[in-house]
Amino acid sequence: MTTATETKQTDRLAVGTPLLEVRDLHVEFRTRDGVAKAVNGVNYSVAAGETLAVLGESGSGKSVTAQTIMGILDMPPGRITQGRILFRGEDMLAMKEEQRRRIRGRKIAMIFQDALSSLNPVLSVGYQLGEMFRVHEGASTTWA
Ligand SMILES: Nc1ncnc2c1ncn2[C@@H]1O[C@H](COP(=O)(O)OP(=O)(O)O)[C@@H](O)[C@H]1O
Ligand SMILES: [Mg+2]
Repeated sequence: MTTATETKQTDRLAVGTPLLEVRDLHVEFRTRDGVAKAVNGVNYSVAAGETLAVLGESGSGKSVTAQTIMGILDMPPGRITQGRILFRGEDMLAMKEEQRRRIRGRKIAMIFQDALSSLNPVLSVGYQLGEMFRVHEGASTTWA
């Protein structure tokens, strides 16, 4: 797994303010066939105004790292065995679920690769995108 970064001006936070830091993250899965070490010591950081691209071959742990950051890793079978995830300097792994929920969706969001399994075919895409704003921002369901 390797990373590349680009920086742009931001009107919210000073460029370069640390936002997200992944420190020595290790994640494994306990399966019937043994322990699969999916993420082994990943380190990266993203600052305000930065775009970070993570590249790596299939199965190198990109998605599991992202799921761990979002707090949506299936545990079990997943297990975080080592590492820290800092959001604006605070350790997300030590946060209460309530605090994490306030960050997830509002401050950190994830766009899933597989539209067929992440979107519900009986609801419009607009409705499903709007859900984030209804849940986190208290937006109404009426269209302007
Ligand atoms: N629920 C799971 N149970 C067991 N192994 C898993 C599970 N999810 C992911 N893995 C394994 O973790 C490794 C990393 O997977 P993943 O993060 O999806 O790779 P990438 O996104 O880089 O293609 C792979 O070996 C994958 O098989
Ligand atoms: Mg993936």
